[in-house]
Formats: sequence, C-alpha cells, structure tokens
Amino acid sequence: MENDRRKFLAQTATLGLSSLALGTATAAAEEKAKVPAPSAAIALADPAYAIELRRAPYLVRLRPDGVSIRWRTGRSQGTPPVVRYGTDPDQLTHSLLASELPSAAKDVCDWVATLTSLTPNTMYYYALELASVTLCGGDERHSFRTPPPVGAAETVRFWCIGDSGSNRSRDVTPAMAVQGSGPVMPVVIRNGMKKFNAGKPLTGGILLLGDNAYPTGSDSNYQSAFFQTYGDLLSSTPMWPCTGNHDLTEGVFGHNFAVDKTGLKAEADDAGEHFPFYYSADLGNLHLIVLDPWQNWWVRNTEHNHKPWRRQMEWLEKDLAANKQHWTVLVNHFPIYAAGNIDSDDGLTDLLRAELAPLSDKYGVDLFLTGHDHTYQRSFLIAGNYGTRKTFDREKNVKFPGDGREQPIVKQAGPNSGTVYVIHGAAAGGRPHGAFDHPVMIPMKNKDGKPRNGWVGPGSFLFEVEGPTLRGWAIDEAGKVIDQFSMEKRV
Ligand SMILES: [Fe+2]
Repeated sequence: MENDRRKFLAQTATLGLSSLALGTATAAAEEKAKVPAPSAAIALADPAYAIELRRAPYLVRLRPDGVSIRWRTGRSQGTPPVVRYGTDPDQLTHSLLASELPSAAKDVCDWVATLTSLTPNTMYYYALELASVTLCGGDERHSFRTPPPVGAAETVRFWCIGDSGSNRSRDVTPAMAVQGSGPVMPVVIRNGMKKFNAGKPLTGGILLLGDNAYPTGSDSNYQSAFFQTYGDLLSSTPMWPCTGNHDLTEGVFGHNFAVDKTGLKAEADDAGEHFPFYYSADLGNLHLIVLDPWQNWWVRNTEHNHKPWRRQMEWLEKDLAANKQHWTVLVNHFPIYAAGNIDSDDGLTDLLRAELAPLSDKYGVDLFLTGHDHTYQRSFLIAGNYGTRKTFDREKNVKFPGDGREQPIVKQAGPNSGTVYVIHGAAAGGRPHGAFDHPVMIPMKNKDGKPRNGWVGPGSFLFEVEGPTLRGWAIDEAGKVIDQFSMEKRV
C-alpha cells in the first residue's frame, strides 16, 4: 500500500507538471503572486477605512432556508462588513453582521455570513457593505434562488467541472501578453456552457469534481485558477466543492470553503453539516453526497483501516441509509472505472472500488460523478462489478441494455438496481492518451472518427432532475452536445 501511495503521489506530481503546459502559473510566478490581484477595488477617502474586495462573494452550503456567503477583503480596520439582503434588489430590508474566519493568506480578511430563515424556491438579492459604503451587490449579479423544499419534484440543474484548475499566469511581460491567443481553456469551456445553457438557471449550482486549482492548490492557485476564472458565476450560483489530489497545500481547501471554524481541517471529529471536505445536501428530490478521497485518505494514511477514512465510510453508510430522496448523486474525485489517461486497473483505486461500488449498489446510487481522468466517459447502468475490466460480465452487470440516448434508461428503485458512472475531468482541456476500452463505458463517436469508449476533447457536463426523470449532457468547449442521456426511475 505504501508503494501504491508513492506511485500515486508521483503520478500527481507528473500531472502537476503537465498542467503547467495548460498555462498554469509557474512556481516563480506563484511566489511573486502571493498577494492576489483584486477582482474589484474601492478605496475610501479615509485611509483608516480603505478596503479592497480581494475575492468576490461566493455561495456555499445552499439550503431551502439559507446559504453561506464567503468573500475576502484587504485587512480591515473597524467594524466588520454587513450583508444586506432581501427579495427586491432595491429594498434589501434584512441585514447581518459578517464573521471573520482564519485565512490561508496574509494581510487579508476572509469573511462569512450565513443567512437563515429564508423561504424555499425564492429569489434573493444581496449587497456587501462596509462603513456604510457598498462594496458590491444590490443587483442581478449578486443574487441566488433558494432550492425547492426537500422532496419537491421540481427541476434542479447542475453544471459539473472536473480538473478545471488551470489558468495562465498573470505575471507576464507586455510582449507575452500581446502574443497571447485569447482566453485559456477553462474560460472557453465556461463560455461554451453559457451558450448551451442559454440562461436556464443552474438551480442546483456548480459541482466541482476536484483538482480545482493547479498545480498545488495553494491560495494563489485558487485565486487565479478558480475564484478569478469563475468569479462572474460564483456570486450568483452556489457551488459544491470536492477535494482533488492537487489540493497539496495544507489547509487551503478548508479555509476556502468552510463556513465556520469547525470546518477548517480535514480530520474533524464530527463531519457535521458545516464540514467542507465530505458532506451531503438535499435539493428538491435529489440527495447530493460529496466525498473526500484525498485529504481524508490518501494524503494522511497508507492503511485502509485508517481512522479518518473509516469515519468517513461510517458517515457515508449512515447518510445513505437515512436518505429517502428519489435521486441520489455521489461525487468522488477518483473514478473507480476508467480507461483514459487514468486506468482503473492499475491497482491504485482497487480499494476505493471495493468499498464504494458495493455501497453504491446496496443503496441504489443513481449517478456516480468523478473527475481525475482528463476525458469524458459514461457507463451503462451497472451493478455488481467490483474487479478489473476482465471481471466485467455484460449479462450479469448491465441492468438496462440501452445507452439512454434515444430512449431513456429505465431504472427500478432499490438495491442492485444499477448506477451510471460518469467521468468528466476535461474542464481545463482533454487528453487523448489511454486505451478507452473499459467495457462498462459506452462507445462514443469522436471528432477524429476513432472508435472509443469515451471522449477525448475538452468540455464539461450538465445534468438536471425533474420529478422521475434525470437528463445529462456532455458538451464540448463550444457548447455543442457530444453525448446526452436520460434516465427514468420507477419507485
Ligand atoms: Fe486528479
């Protein structure tokens, strides 16, 4: 196991270097960029109250009756900021004093305000204010919709980005800036999603499938590759973060996504509802579970029975057993069936598959979403396959014969009813390397005409649930659909 771990960490380091080719900041640039560039700035007349908004507000932990708003300012003197909010952007009748959280960066303040007692399925607007000056907000760009009540069969829609964390360094010479050819791929892919989505509200939010900030998940990596890249969406679209193996900088992930001090460290005694590393949430008739196979497992242990991992698995089983929602979606950065630039037969994810696939079967998980492999792959509705690709038995393991493109996949409720496994790790670019022959995966027509059980280009994935129907779309960087499916679940 120790050897496996070393091999895996070496693979991670390789991926980190590869990500530089995609335009990630170099270590030297990162060193110089310790103080993040402001996304907006307001300087007041009195220097004692001068303040900059260093990280635009972002929304986490959406619930039918609340949400947490996080943002970053320069070092603040005097009273904390205030969030003003309400259902009319011109009448923000409610207010709440923000609390400061410990920060992973120097000379800044990280703030949180958790709004409660909100009405489900309702549009809210907010503004951030300091010393009676509005830092931002009071408009459409600073708004959110609370989800439907738990169990309601209304549409909940998500955008999923895996391995998105690349952005070119801002620390470039004027000549380099002039020679640049345009936005980096994550921005192009984001724009493609906007074209495809055509203004439909992402009522569920943005699902981060891990590796959100290359190469090391440092505070400045997150600032450039995540918060500045997606800032225009994050102030009005809640997000659900998942750790990845590039979260190598101790403490940053927790500091970015915690809503209180109990959520700062990966090894919390009690996961609880505020824990950002692994957690669950109910949105309409969907139950979302996000796991942490990295900070809580690989980084910290070499044994399968390591306490934090066992605690996470015990929590997962308890959570699945208590779940009564129509749809169950599970997010885990590492795929357990894959044959792109990651191959699940290399031994590194055997333990994950041995543990997670039987649980997925036992509790009838519908959709198992992962990243890490920089491709798109989608499985048939399968159950009961816990070994390598050689152990796959189509007769036994496939629970519905169709691929779901023309006619929906029909799934019954209950144990061993089958799960669709989706990998999408190409939100910063795709990789053509790999066998693309995993038998659980559905064949796809690629642009180069080569037959593959997967798609090699860049892109992202959207899905929605609406009553008993789930629909999924893999789209390329231009927003063109490259694969789509639907599933009907009969209870
Ligand atoms: Fe990864």
